[in-house]
Amino acid sequence: MDARFAETVEFLRERIPVPPVVGVILGSGLGDFAAAVEDRLEIPYARIPGFPASAVVGHAGTLVAGSLAGVPIVVLSGRIHFYEGHPMSAVVTPARVLGLLGCRDVVVTNAAGGIDKAFSAGDLMLISDHINLFGTNPLVGPNDDSFGARFPDMSDAYRSDLRRLAKAVARRVRVPLREGVYVGVTVPSYETPAEIRAFRTLGAHAVGMSTVPEVIALSHMGVGVLGISCITNMAAGVLKKPLRHDEVLETTRRVKDRFVRLLTALVAAIGEGRSPDRLVVVPSRKSPRAAVKTKGGRPAKAPARRKR
Ligand code: HPA
Repeated sequence: MDARFAETVEFLRERIPVPPVVGVILGSGLGDFAAAVEDRLEIPYARIPGFPASAVVGHAGTLVAGSLAGVPIVVLSGRIHFYEGHPMSAVVTPARVLGLLGCRDVVVTNAAGGIDKAFSAGDLMLISDHINLFGTNPLVGPNDDSFGARFPDMSDAYRSDLRRLAKAVARRVRVPLREGVYVGVTVPSYETPAEIRAFRTLGAHAVGMSTVPEVIALSHMGVGVLGISCITNMAAGVLKKPLRHDEVLETTRRVKDRFVRLLTALVAAIGEGRSPDRLVVVPSRKSPRAAVKTKGGRPAKAPARRKR
């Protein structure tokens, strides 16, 4: 393991009793989910060696380890943003640490502005793909081969098997779920109406200030990603009214019950598929170590699993 991460990971492994299977990264104002974690161990980022600290309102900056529906998880409540002036390497450190702790899948959440005119503030959107407009990439620089390939494939970064699962879970818990492309931008000034029109033409449905770097780093490590955006406001120019960060936080407060219900059910469903007694190793052309959930001992339909 890269020496930069060794101290951080050792510190956390010594304190977290059960290695996590699923990781969750919570976006602005979405920290309430952490309260649902059982047998909680909370560690402020400032106390974790090698962890950068976030100072944004609405971001607690706490790592929460525990379990949810019997699934060992680590939740990152609060994230590090590129616009705060941190280098990309710091922005993706918490995501890298989730992968190094053993998370096989990570649910990445964020607050986002709605570009698709059919959306409304308060909608939840399953991220199908992203467009990186940060003007840089966390993998710029020498490649760390212990993490992954120099040129990682991103064609199924927001994994289609996890998206199928998410849609089924959302129907079951009766949480309406939109689906669309997230465009990640540097900000911190909100976009102009002309930029939003341009992003719509590019094929984006929602815009935000995060997620893209983390998803690139997680994909690089072969970690499965499921992305959920909370549409906290309609993006600039859509409703002809000024954008305020307060509105972002107000909307997350309004949707928090729905969001927590969906996320809890999602973690349980992902974890159920990952529990050792439900997994069977089946050869697949895409991944020789592919694992699929079984039904009565028979392998269910084999999805393409981890790439490493
Ligand atoms: N633009 C960029 N990021 C955001 C927005 C937005 O409108 N809303 C929440 N995060």
